[in-house]
Parts: sequence; C-alpha cells; structure tokens
Amino acid sequence: MTSITKATENDFQSIVDIGKVVVGEAHKNAAPVDDMKDYLQRNYNDAAIKEELSDPNNIYHIIYYDSQPVGFSKIIFDAPHPNIVAENVTMLDRIYLLKEFSGLKLGMQLLNFNLALAKDYGQEGIWLYTWVGNERAINFYQKAGFTIIGSHHFYVTPAYYNVNHQMYLPITASH
Ligand SMILES: CC(C)(COP(=O)(O)OP(=O)(O)OC[C@H]1O[C@@H](n2cnc3c(N)ncnc32)[C@H](O)[C@@H]1OP(=O)(O)O)[C@@H](O)C(=O)NCCC(=O)NCCS
Repeated sequence: MTSITKATENDFQSIVDIGKVVVGEAHKNAAPVDDMKDYLQRNYNDAAIKEELSDPNNIYHIIYYDSQPVGFSKIIFDAPHPNIVAENVTMLDRIYLLKEFSGLKLGMQLLNFNLALAKDYGQEGIWLYTWVGNERAINFYQKAGFTIIGSHHFYVTPAYYNVNHQMYLPITASH
C-alpha cells in the first residue's frame, strides 16, 4: 500500500536519512570518495534539509510504502533553462528511493505524481540533470519518455565536477 504526501519541515529527518544512503549509493562511482562524502555532509544534514523545506519554491514529496517513508522527490515550478524554448517548465531536482524498494514501480509512481502536479500548474515540460554513469536512472527517465537534450557539469564540490545529461520531457495531454 503506497501513499504520497507533501513534505513539511517536520519531515526533514526522513529526507536526510533516505538521501544520505541513496544519493551515496547511486553516485559511489561518480566522484572521488572524499568529494562525495563532502557533498553528502553539506547537503544531507538536518539544517540543510530544514532550509530546503522552508523555501516554498522547493516542492518536496515523500512516498510511503506500508507507512514507511521509502523515497522522496523535489520539483521546482517555473525553472526555465536556456536549452528549452518553453519558459514555464519544471525542474525535477531530486528523486530518490531506498534500494530495498526499487524496481517496484514506486519511482514511476512518484514521477507520474509530480508530472500530474506540473501539468495541473500549467507547466509545459519537465527537465532534470542526471550523472552520465547512472544507467538505471537514465533508463528510468527514458522509459518515462525523457530524451537527452544537453550536457552539464555538476559540481559535486567547488573543485570537482562530473558530467551530467540534461533530459527533457514535454508535458502533453496524455500525461
Ligand atoms: C531511479 C529510481 C528513482 C527508479 O525508481 P524505481 O522504483 O527503482 O523504478 P521503477 O520500478 O518505477 O521502474 C521503472 C523503469 O525504470 C527502469 N529501471 C528501473 N530499475 C532499473 C534497473 N535496475 N536497471 C535498468 N532499468 C531500470 C526500467 O525501465 C523500469 O521499467 P520496467 O521495469 O518496465 O523495465 C530509483 O531506482 C532510485 O532512486 N535510484 C537511486 C537514486 C537515483 O539514481 N535517483 C535518480 C538521480 S538523477
């Protein structure tokens, strides 16, 4: 039994706990160990996530499986990008699911939920960055209809970047 709810500042702990584990696992070959450790420490601590949740532009949701928080997503409406003609587009900034619960279509459920939200908000498309080595995520996004439209240097730390694909999905009547 799954449910998806909008995250509030009270949910910071679930996001920190899931993020620290899943982001680290998915990107363990994406950067030198110390750079990734630094990235996780800076971005997935209580204060950083509380600050994220206090910004109304950051729309976080948590997906529960049998009442257990097992993943989360973050979107930002009206996040235009020079590679995309449409201005009213949404950025999918984060989508992470605990490994034990991957492959159950929970990720697709969470993605579709966010697509429906963006559509209701009048957005014309949704875009994201994903590390070029993250094959599972690339497959996942392609399955959902995203295509690669560009390349991006993602700074893991101020001194280290890795190459990301930029992917885009126009939102259509069938979403
Ligand atoms: C990427 C992620 C969100 C996908 O969610 P999920 O619940 O595991 O995926 P789903 O069960 O919804 O699968 C949907 C599709 O994704 C693809 N996919 C899922 N797991 C896959 C795997 N291990 N290998 C290849 N493709 C995979 C498949 O196309 C699948 O469709 P199919 O089963 O009909 O072939 C999730 O696995 C995750 O959080 N991974 C780690 C963190 C991460 O990389 N996040 C994205 C950062 S950009």
